[in-house]
Amino acid sequence: MSGVLPSRRHKTFYLETFGCQMNVHDSEKVVGTLIQQGYRQVETVEQADLILYNTCSIRDKAEQKVFHRLADYKKLQSQGKKFGVLGCVAQQEGVRIFERAPHVSLVCGSASYNNLAGMLVQLERAGEAAHEIPRPAGESAGLRNDAVVVEDEADDESAGLWADATHFSRTKRARNGAPTIRDSQLETRDSGLIRITGLDDRQTDKCFETEFTARTNPHRGYITIIEGCDKFCAYCVVPFTRGKERSRTSQSVLAEARQMADLGYTEIQLLGQNVNSYKDPAGGAGKSRSRKSFAELLAAVGEVPGIQRVRFTTSHPRDFGRDIVDAIDAVPTLCDHVHLPVQSGSTRMLDAMQRLYTREQYMERIAWLKAAKRDIAITTDVIVGFPGETECDFQQTLSLLDEVGYDGVFSFKYSPRPNTPALKLEDAIPEEEKAQRLEVLMAKQRELQTIKNRNYIGTISEVMVEAYNDSRDQWIGRTSQNKTLNFTVASATRPRVGTYTAILVTGSFPNSLIGEMMPAPASNVMTTKTELTWK
Ligand code: 5AD
Ligand code: SF4
Repeated sequence: MSGVLPSRRHKTFYLETFGCQMNVHDSEKVVGTLIQQGYRQVETVEQADLILYNTCSIRDKAEQKVFHRLADYKKLQSQGKKFGVLGCVAQQEGVRIFERAPHVSLVCGSASYNNLAGMLVQLERAGEAAHEIPRPAGESAGLRNDAVVVEDEADDESAGLWADATHFSRTKRARNGAPTIRDSQLETRDSGLIRITGLDDRQTDKCFETEFTARTNPHRGYITIIEGCDKFCAYCVVPFTRGKERSRTSQSVLAEARQMADLGYTEIQLLGQNVNSYKDPAGGAGKSRSRKSFAELLAAVGEVPGIQRVRFTTSHPRDFGRDIVDAIDAVPTLCDHVHLPVQSGSTRMLDAMQRLYTREQYMERIAWLKAAKRDIAITTDVIVGFPGETECDFQQTLSLLDEVGYDGVFSFKYSPRPNTPALKLEDAIPEEEKAQRLEVLMAKQRELQTIKNRNYIGTISEVMVEAYNDSRDQWIGRTSQNKTLNFTVASATRPRVGTYTAILVTGSFPNSLIGEMMPAPASNVMTTKTELTWK
């Protein structure tokens, strides 16, 4: 790989990722950046010189995880290991992290990743000057590139599916030469502790684009199309941690999609906190370029030769236009699934949450989705126990579940977050009440999904083969609707991971389907409304 610095001292790193798909994909780019800097990824903290946590602060529980991890491994500092905190907790807590965990040397917020390469150089130089980085013995043993781990409560549907070896995609971008050191601060304490921070880039116009992205799955991969969020929902920390909205040009998104297709990827997931707020920025200097709406970009990615599936997440109901549904109807590669977080079924609560739509406006979008030619699965996020939520408001959320008939719901107890407007609201709901509402909501949705999934029995779905489950002697597949469909294979033919195949659904559970592989190839399968039939 040209452009990769020689590994002078076999620098190694371990990276653990918490949180959403955005974080998982950021980690893929962070890994690419580190590899370019001459580092090698290792599987365990014990093998690493540099231990990094890419953190999530969406709820308090997620935030606490990183401090537990740092405490667990503090003892390894005496072996000369360095610790770094990246991501949303880094952005939110900033230098306070050094107080809570004094063994941390690097704090880099999610809005400052463009400076990461420079910060790593600073860390090394400062370490060399202070003779701070003794090499542990046997450091290069057991190298592997698949140490990305996803850990969260319930908000990452795909957790646990990245078991494949890391796959390197080279993205052709102009290289700016050596990494620059910008907006980061270095402090070497008398104690010899090195502290480097990169935090103040939230007003950046730049997206985090890297020349190398170390993708962890060779068949499906993420492309960030928009970073940050300008919505400022009353409960949400994201606008404070990820900064203002900035979109990538459609040219650069499409170029990455084509490169991924050339590398053999068949599924692309377009990512953003708010994908449908996407605004195509002006193209390259001096050239007139046509700007694409989100729906147009979606369709264009779906038309890239070789791409068989395109997903996108997350959509904000306020910006969710009918043109997105039209695109799904028109372009067969766009998956039959939309994640449209509602948060509450009560217009009064939606107003308090500053969600910028009413229940009726949300239901209008649902009606568009239901009127589509294809059977589009709909999933959502719900928060229970937001300040002031009455039993009546909660009942309205339950009735919304009935009305929509979601294919999946990710539900959360409201968690007060720093800086957010909701902190000032009165009428906090007691924890026990929140927990009880959550339980009621989950039980109801489980019932609805049990009924819904039963309707799939006897239908045929095309799945992408994701993995083999040894203990159950079952293959794991994912449908276009994003449902897990585990299946058995009667013949001696073993399906290959990453291929597409037709499955007859024979059974159902609330969260998954089971089935048998059909003898004919998936290309013989045609999608129609409500079920799949043979051509
Ligand atoms: N408390 C609970 N849930 C939250 N979410 C975002 N912020 C909070 C919070 N402070 C949920 C929302 C969002 C999902 C990613 O996380 O439902 O859609
Ligand atoms: Fe948070 Fe609201 Fe932005 Fe989503 S739209 S990231 S919930 S502020």
